[in-house]
Amino acid sequence: MMNKILAIETSCDETSAAIVADGKTVLSNIISSQIDTHKIYGGVVPEIASRKHVETISAIVDEALSAADTKLSEVDAIAVTYGPGLVGAVLIGLSYAKGLSFSLKKPLIGINHIEGHIASNYIENPDFAPPFICLVVSGGHTYIVHVKDFCDYEVLGKTRDDAAGEAFDKVARAVGLGYPGGPKIDKAATTGDKNAIKFPRIYLEEESYDFSFSGLKSAVLNYLNKCNMMGQEININDVAASFQQAAVEVLVNKTISAAIRTGVSKIALAGGVAANTFLRHEMSNACAQNNMTLNVPKPVYCTDNAAMIACQGYFRYLNGEFSELDLNAVPGLGL
Ligand code: KG4
Ligand code: ZN
Repeated sequence: MMNKILAIETSCDETSAAIVADGKTVLSNIISSQIDTHKIYGGVVPEIASRKHVETISAIVDEALSAADTKLSEVDAIAVTYGPGLVGAVLIGLSYAKGLSFSLKKPLIGINHIEGHIASNYIENPDFAPPFICLVVSGGHTYIVHVKDFCDYEVLGKTRDDAAGEAFDKVARAVGLGYPGGPKIDKAATTGDKNAIKFPRIYLEEESYDFSFSGLKSAVLNYLNKCNMMGQEININDVAASFQQAAVEVLVNKTISAAIRTGVSKIALAGGVAANTFLRHEMSNACAQNNMTLNVPKPVYCTDNAAMIACQGYFRYLNGEFSELDLNAVPGLGL
């Protein structure tokens, strides 16, 4: 018998619902992005995000069910993100999931959003399994994780200030590319010279797998200010490519070192920044040079989506790890 998990994800600015069979076959994955709403403010406005989730959640869940040709009664469990994220946004999806769980008498499975990102590597990919080293790079998080088993993680490093995606977003805003910055930097960089401007690579202490991106961001801002003061023309594509190169070089080198140190030769990427063309390319080269293999989810499973939450929900389901109806949102939840 096929197992079907209905998952709900509302931790930031995407309202998403998905039905996934046996933890890997995506029957539906509906994502309603609020980008157009938040764009005019230059970033996500939490209160508006919550209101939008309230308006769309019912329709998105209905659409996920009908696209998967599945009735609510055929769902085995309901998985939902309970953190980390914007507290008001998380609460909308969580409350909706609890309501479904209570009325349908189906188990509720609270999922850590970061674990969900890691699980995006298993989607439609039955041959890929732990152990592996995962670089999780999103708008809110940057982690190097030793994924020992489907529900067993060891964090080897994390950011001490800005997340990788946050740095992309802030640099994009500073050069006038707008929100969301990551995809815009990605595109602008393709026609820029990545060696045009020497930005710092911040490695912190030797053997540390932690990251710091605020220094790189400040270096870009200082460069822009200096050009403006001296009346020098700014080549946005060169700034994008040079910044991206500095950020990606550190992400790749630290991930490879972590894999060498732990003796793991499988690497995976996850999170919105994993959709970045240059990161995918550089990580793939570095893996080939070090006799390591790389797994990268499809871009649609890198950015926020409910399919990844359903996928991780399946492994919790197999372990019989269910949540109570008093499960609360945990905005600062770590791994
Ligand atoms: O995983 P995600 O959708 O949401 C969070 O959990 O934070 O990640 C969003 C982040 C944003 O910072 C966005 O700019 C970045 O991922 N991003 C990218 C690309 N696509 C999305 N960054 C670099 N290159 C991209 N192609
Ligand atoms: Zn995310």
